[in-house]
Amino acid sequence: MRIILYLGKGGVGKTTVSASTATAIARRGGRVLIMSTDVAHSLADAFGVELSQTPIEVEKNLFAMEVNVLAEIRENWNELYSYFSSILMHDGADEVVAEELAIVPGMEEMISLRYIWKAAKSGNYDAVVVDAAPTGETMRLLGMPESYGWYSDKIGGWHSKAIGFAAPLLSKFMPKKNIFKLMPEVNEHMKELHGMLQDKSITTFRVVLNPENMVIKEALRVQTYLNLFGYKLDAAIVNKILPAKSGDKYLQSLIDIQQKYLRVIENCFFPLPIFRAGQATAEVINPDRLYELSQEMFGDKNPADVLYTNDRTQTLEKVDGKYVLSLYLPNVEVQKLNVNIKGDELLVDINNFRKSIMLPNVLIGRKTEGADFEAGNLNITFAN
Ligand SMILES: Nc1ncnc2c1ncn2[C@@H]1O[C@H](COP(=O)(O)OP(=O)(O)OP(=O)(O)O)[C@@H](O)[C@H]1O
Ligand SMILES: [Mg+2]
Repeated sequence: MRIILYLGKGGVGKTTVSASTATAIARRGGRVLIMSTDVAHSLADAFGVELSQTPIEVEKNLFAMEVNVLAEIRENWNELYSYFSSILMHDGADEVVAEELAIVPGMEEMISLRYIWKAAKSGNYDAVVVDAAPTGETMRLLGMPESYGWYSDKIGGWHSKAIGFAAPLLSKFMPKKNIFKLMPEVNEHMKELHGMLQDKSITTFRVVLNPENMVIKEALRVQTYLNLFGYKLDAAIVNKILPAKSGDKYLQSLIDIQQKYLRVIENCFFPLPIFRAGQATAEVINPDRLYELSQEMFGDKNPADVLYTNDRTQTLEKVDGKYVLSLYLPNVEVQKLNVNIKGDELLVDINNFRKSIMLPNVLIGRKTEGADFEAGNLNITFAN
């Protein structure tokens, strides 16, 4: 069983690449479910069919669904929601404000994750491909399994406090079903899913990007945050590449810019494999076109496989009380090394190639204290 998650900035082609990957897996004979966790669904447009919470078979072996988080909250979590808004109102909040605040932070992410967990555990599929929302939201989603324990304890805590001190007043608001019993159960599911997401033989994270400056920065941020959470990328997919040459001057200048950023991508994501897809002239909106795109990207490779098997890429650790960022750079002989920080970006110049890393929040504003290169790892120490 494999879980494949595509991440990246808005509009880069996550939905298209996810749908294309799922189609390729299905046509190789694997049973695959593609699931959209983005509230702004566009998976249905990519296949040209209607989708809902219940998976439908788009073609042989290819199942698709869209998670509808808000409907799920209304249907199954409504009691918890009204309970919270009642407590907030009891504490003096205005009704509208209370209702808005009562959408517990993390609830949407938790619901999406439970769908991934359910599909992965169902035994119905060889692969589950997740078409996620743009970076920020998906990072919250992926950080969720780790914080869920804290979160459910907190909810449980509020609940027992409310029962202890305000039971007579609150009794009319108390949920009829005991949803609090569900919390530990969900906690178990979250723990299990977290283990699955961190297991490289099960879960694969891939970043989709275009040869453009801001998009590359966002993709590097994806890499940094995945590493922080203990998740690993196995490939970068560069989408919407223009043809290498054009007789048209205007188009050629756009191509030249793209070529420059393609080189930046090759340096920055080294040693990860990079897969490429050209800018299509027709819309990619049916399984045949999606399959063609997958052929262009992956060729003979099966996109259900783990595409980068080396475990080492980038790690952040505390060594003797100091942060050390390690970058794995195999087969690089360092003759000239220069490390600089520019805002939230770490620029590493090695010989004549430049690698850029987006710093996680804990490192922003710190100075580097030194760097050494050992056994293919560049270790950069940050001052406290
Ligand atoms: N290789 C390609 N050639 C031509 N058009 C493409 C290609 N890849 C994606 N597109 C088009 O670009 C648009 C954005 O693609 P898509 O919806 O897949 O991106 P996304 O990253 O999922 O966006 P969002 O962040 O909004 O979910 C769509 O109209 C899609 O059809
Ligand atoms: Mg999308």
